[in-house]
Amino acid sequence: MRTIQWKDGKVILINQQKLPTELNYIECKNPNRIAKAIRNLEIRGAPAIGVAAAMALALTANNSKAKDKEDLFNQLEKMAKQLEMTRPTAINLFWAIERVLRKARSTVGTTEDIKEITIKEALTMAEEDIQKNKTMGKHGADLLEDGDVVGTICNAGWLATAGEYGTALGVIKVAHEQGKKISVIALETRPVLQGARLTAWELKQDGIDVKVIPDGAIGYCFYKGMINKFLCGADRIVVLNNCSVINKIGTHTVSLAAKYYHIPFYAVAPLSTFDFKNNLKEIRIETRRQTEVTEINGKRIVPAKVKAINFAFDITPPSLVTAIITEKGIIYPPFKENLFRVASSLE
Ligand code: MRU
Repeated sequence: MRTIQWKDGKVILINQQKLPTELNYIECKNPNRIAKAIRNLEIRGAPAIGVAAAMALALTANNSKAKDKEDLFNQLEKMAKQLEMTRPTAINLFWAIERVLRKARSTVGTTEDIKEITIKEALTMAEEDIQKNKTMGKHGADLLEDGDVVGTICNAGWLATAGEYGTALGVIKVAHEQGKKISVIALETRPVLQGARLTAWELKQDGIDVKVIPDGAIGYCFYKGMINKFLCGADRIVVLNNCSVINKIGTHTVSLAAKYYHIPFYAVAPLSTFDFKNNLKEIRIETRRQTEVTEINGKRIVPAKVKAINFAFDITPPSLVTAIITEKGIIYPPFKENLFRVASSLE
């Protein structure tokens, strides 16, 4: 299964806003439609956002009537700026844009050659994402044992990546393929319910046992000994702050409860999710529109004129993280030192 596909000069996306009731596709002929899909969470999840942005640049190149190379670069850079404004937290977005632009700029040849290389780079990135997630799944599966009940938040499955495995759910899927019996408890993940809608749908398709809990039930589930490991994805891992993990709102609360109950808490993320440049003060945590909180299915549930606060992400300090699972291996504390040891060939 793929979230994003390049087909006859168009980009086809699964519309994640319609899941689980409908499996619908969005056909994008224009890169602006991809930018809109990223903004509206029709495509979401850090690695998927990155690949979608790369595809938007590929589409820009493909549709371009640029008269020369400089004109084409300008069009690509203009689109890149627009894409950068869609969602500010997932670093994969910026990583992917930078990589495609660098590739285009470094290509020697005609305008047509650059167009071709840009498209090829986006397609390569989608394939690489799938391969990395599979490798990451294999590393992480070593930590899971037969009979484990694993907690997870948001959707860090194939829907959040280019396809097939996913990050946190990729670990569970590989363990399942290895014949281990793994059950999952998924936090519903208010306000837009990626856990209830997407994780539950994805795992059900794969035949993996899954139950959904309200976000507030996590402490009681830990207290009752119902969950013995917790896996989450990440939108950005901030290396300069000892690998603090930025992920879906609610992750930090889970990490605090997990520490109290001695439940191993793992973040699963490819190296493209690591931020080596910025510190926490420089990073924007996305705040989304209030109606995501004040309304359910378009119906207001909060009294009129009462405001809502809608942070999309939070920050989990490294002291609450047991290990970070990457495609290069499992990193234990002290994270910063061990990251450089494990990931000897950083991109
Ligand atoms: O707002 P979303 O749905 O894009 O948030 C997604 C998450 O928080 C995921 O955990 C993260 O992107 C990692 S997904 C592999």
